[in-house]
Amino acid sequence: MKNVRVGLLGLGNIGKGTYTILTQNADRISGMSNSKIEVKKILVSDINKPRDIEVSKEILTTDAYNILNDPEIDVIVELIGGIDKAYEYIKAALSSGKHVATANKAVIATHGLELMELAKKNKVLLLHEASVAGGIPIITAMLKPLCGNDFQEIIGIVNGTTNYILTQMSENNLEYEVALKQAQEKGFAEADPTSDVEGEDAAYKLTILMLIAFGVYVDPKTIPREGITKISKEDIEYASQFGYKLKLLAGAKNSSGRLKYYVYPTLVPESHPLASVNNEFNALFVKGDAVGELMFYGKGAGSMPTGSAVVGDIVSIAKCIGTDLLEITPSQPYPITEEELELTGESRSEYYINFLVKDQPGALGKIMTVLGTHGISIQSVMQRAKGDDSLPVVFILHETRRQALDDALAEIVKNSYVEKVTSILRVLS
Ligand code: HSE
Repeated sequence: MKNVRVGLLGLGNIGKGTYTILTQNADRISGMSNSKIEVKKILVSDINKPRDIEVSKEILTTDAYNILNDPEIDVIVELIGGIDKAYEYIKAALSSGKHVATANKAVIATHGLELMELAKKNKVLLLHEASVAGGIPIITAMLKPLCGNDFQEIIGIVNGTTNYILTQMSENNLEYEVALKQAQEKGFAEADPTSDVEGEDAAYKLTILMLIAFGVYVDPKTIPREGITKISKEDIEYASQFGYKLKLLAGAKNSSGRLKYYVYPTLVPESHPLASVNNEFNALFVKGDAVGELMFYGKGAGSMPTGSAVVGDIVSIAKCIGTDLLEITPSQPYPITEEELELTGESRSEYYINFLVKDQPGALGKIMTVLGTHGISIQSVMQRAKGDDSLPVVFILHETRRQALDDALAEIVKNSYVEKVTSILRVLS
């Protein structure tokens, strides 16, 4: 049995999970990888900090290069997060012929292509199963058992923080701020939740998914996105009355060579499998031409679920070390496609529109007329009289171009009977 030595960069949440699994399930892991996997050194910020796992101080170091320059270490496991330092360390590891496993979506979404090239050049592996949806093995599934498919669509609930907040707003009738505070108290949301609630985290993950599913690199900064900070509990309640759940979706669809992609809070029909994914859970709904529809469900964050994916990558690497498997395991597994895909963020969609309208004769009819003159067809409408002078009027519109909708709304708001457009949300169709 061969010895495989690992250097862990980071002993935070995921680092602890990874170390615990490697220790706790050592026999099984050793059998699966035909290796004795030893964590030789761990990078920490403070050696003497009290820790809730048992780990010898002898193997802790505060100097990353003490690990990266250790010739005995075969595999670097990057779990420090962030972009700049992680990029520097991964580059140094690959350049010196070490394999890398990382959970870092930001670094893979930003520098993944360059790092994959570097891995290929140095004949080492760079694996990142944990970078999308934590414990759900979506990357390996698309690269291995599903690799014969032409992917048509992938839609994900890939951010547990926002899914927890939206579920709590829906089930317990909470305002956004209250649900966010609760998510922070339970440890699902970070103290600074900006990246999660503004959809940036989901955009990083979508970039990685599109690279694998469609063979295109889309800079995460260019993905059209909206977060969930402006969502009200009223919109969630109205959506529910129309038969929808509100979810933050990260989606990409190839329609005859046009790739549409987005991160948007979206109304999902209750009959769709993604509608029942609640709280901190993640899910990926995938359509392939051969396999048809598939749904992956599980925990997308947390120490042990994410550690589970990291350990899977370490075992995959360990299996290859000392064999010629590296030659047949592409370290650049998703070459950029030669097919010309037209990249388009915005396109047609069904919409949910909530107007605040003066309660006066003909007001509703006037809105409908303007929508009609712009070629926009109405699917359903609901008005909620509360005995006030103004009342919410909510429409579900058939599929329309965004420009047509914007033109119609600009005309509608000019009229004195409409106080404001309270919200515009997309509907999954
Ligand atoms: N912050 C992410 C989430 C987990 O809430 O799902 C790490 O990607």
